[in-house]
This record gives sequence, structure tokens and C-alpha cells, in this order.
Amino acid sequence: MNVEYNLKEIKTPAFICDIDTLIKNLEFHRKMANESGCKLLFSLKTFTIVEILKYIQKYVDGFSSSSLFETKIAKELLSNEQSIHLTTPGLRQNEINEISRTANFIAFNSISQYEFLKDKLDKNLKIGFRINPQFSSDIDNKYNPCCPNSKLGIPIKRFVEYIKTNNYNFVTGIHFHTNCDSTNFDFLTETFELIEINLKDCLHKIEWINLGGGYLFQSDEQIKSFINLIKRIKNKYDVEIYIEPGASIIRNSFLLVSTVIDVFDSEDKRVAVLDTTVNHLPEVLEFNYRLNITNSSKNGAYEYILAGSSCLAGDLFGLYKFDKPLKIGDKILFNNVGAYSIVKSNMFNGINLPAIYQTHNDTFKLIKEYTYFDFIGKYN
Ligand SMILES: Cc1ncc(COP(=O)(O)O)c(C=O)c1O
Repeated sequence: MNVEYNLKEIKTPAFICDIDTLIKNLEFHRKMANESGCKLLFSLKTFTIVEILKYIQKYVDGFSSSSLFETKIAKELLSNEQSIHLTTPGLRQNEINEISRTANFIAFNSISQYEFLKDKLDKNLKIGFRINPQFSSDIDNKYNPCCPNSKLGIPIKRFVEYIKTNNYNFVTGIHFHTNCDSTNFDFLTETFELIEINLKDCLHKIEWINLGGGYLFQSDEQIKSFINLIKRIKNKYDVEIYIEPGASIIRNSFLLVSTVIDVFDSEDKRVAVLDTTVNHLPEVLEFNYRLNITNSSKNGAYEYILAGSSCLAGDLFGLYKFDKPLKIGDKILFNNVGAYSIVKSNMFNGINLPAIYQTHNDTFKLIKEYTYFDFIGKYN
């Protein structure tokens, strides 16, 4: 993304969305869906800025949602040919009527959730269940849906028992989401094989399978085994397959620009305080992410603790090296920050949220900026 010429003009901190990169990602995911025959959903939990969802909407078969609010955004943006798919552990009794009228597909996260709410469901809603194959790849339990004692999805053996003892004609589909940022589709294939062993007859009776998100689709070569898997499942079971990636579509189309607002020594290290904070990129702390910074340099002679500007001692991005000394007013560009950042950001300490800009075909536009009224309005 070439933003150099705009850096002087923008107020920081600021997220910048490169629509050209986003469109390339969308075209790639669309092509993959067409080639494999699966339906492509975008997972709204990753990102919900409407102005940009309008681009995404043009390439997808629907949105997946985790709440009433996301479902309502989806309804506003999608056409009647596109569909809304919801799964969440957090279904509330007072929201189920509206959700069930607005969404098209639902995957209940537990049997008790379904039993508690089943009498309130709209007759047009396609009912399914999120199952948990209890088969983990080697990822941190903080974001492993198949961690021990998981709250996400019905353990597969329990689901088999349930559908055996209940006539399962009401089950139209199953959902599973078992990974995070994986590029390894062999794991998805193995997971599906395990599901086949357990669910045998059921798979021939249902209409749809949602494979969730958690995978990064990167190149024609890398997605070959994914395409083969989809073709095999569709051929054998005559089902519609849905995928609901988020990060894979949006992550690399965003950067965050911040400005150095102070530089000083703290014992044997130099600290550069930024006008942003980890509360604008919360996964830095939640998951110990180390972000890629455009102008940092692996072997640079000048090393800094890059610090966020809130009062939290741990509001730190980490140690980074640069070729030149940093000074007040320098810009720091964090790359690949489109997923799970804006949706999770907050105004802790009263620090304003980053403005949001977009670049497209050499144009540059402010989409959204926040003010004191957003801060005071949140709590009053
Ligand atoms: C059920 C479900 N679907 C889809 C996604 C999107 O995953 P990703 O952004 O990793 O593709 C998530 C992420 O947590 C999820 O929980």
C-alpha cells in the first residue's frame, strides 16, 4: 500500500484500508468458492465498518454473524439471494424472536440452548448444530475451539447420541469451526474424516455443512487440497458447503498509522511513546502478537520499546529496531491489522479511537472519525 504521500495530511492514529488489496483478496476467495463449489460467507465478528462491508458484500454469498446486532447489519447490507448464518454460545431469550426472523441459518452451540429456545424459532429458519470434533491442531488454548472442556460446540459423541435418541428430521445442517490462522488444509481434511466416521448416516440426510473460518487462503497452489476436499464432500453427500473466513479476507488490507509523541530513556532502554495504544489493537496483549512494522529494520542500530500511551504498564508493542533514531513526529506503520482490531478497540483512558480512511485507485478518503461525543455517549 503506498500511503507515503498522504501521511502528512492525516490525523493519527488512523486505520487505512487499501480497497485495492481488499478487492484482490475478495476476487481470490470468490474464484476459490466458484472452483470448489462452496458458498462464501464473510465472518462479521472480524470487522463491521459498513462503508467497507459494502465492497465485501458484492463478492460473497452471505455473512456469518454471532449476535443480534451483527445479524441486523447483515440484513441491511445483503440482498434476498444472500444469506445470514448465526452461531454463538450467547443466544439470549429476549433476542431469539428477532434473530430467528432475521437470520436464515442457525447453528445451536449446545443441546440445552436448542431445547430452551426451540419453541420460539421462526418456521423458515434452517436449524443446525455446531459440533465440536474435539480434534485440535497445535494452537494456544486461548483461541483453540477444541481445547479441553471447550464451551464451543457439542462434543461430537454427545451429538451422535442426541440425534439417535431424537428423530433428527429437524436438523438441516452442521457447523464446525476448529482452527485459527491455519494454512494447513490437511488438518481440515483430517477433521472432516473424523466427522464422517462419527456421523455416517447423518451426513447423507442433512442439507448443509458450514466449515467455519480459521483458515488463511493464500495461493492457487496452497488451496488445491481445500478445493479437492469440497468437491469430494459435495459429490459424496450432495450437501451445500459454506465457509466463513474473516481474517483471510480483511487482515492484510489495513494498516494503522501512529505518531511518536515522546522519546526517553528508561534505565538501559530507549522508550518511544506512540499516540496509539494496544487498546486499538487488543490482540497484541490478548494473544501476545508481534506486529509487522513497515519502517522497522531487523538489524537496525537503534532499538526502542514501542509503548502505547495509556497508563497501563503493559501497554507495549514490544522491542523494535530502526535504521535511524526515532524522534517526536515520526510515523510508525503497523501492517496487517484489519481483523479483530476495530471491532475490539476501546477508549480506555479517554484516548480517542483511530480515524478510518480508505485508499482506492489513488484516491484517499476519510470514512469515519470519532470525537469526545462518542466517548461521553458510550457511558452516558
Ligand atoms: C464460528 C466462527 N466462524 C468464523 C470465524 C472467523 O475466523 P477467521 O477470522 O480466523 O477466519 C470465527 C473466529 O473466531 C468463528 O469463531
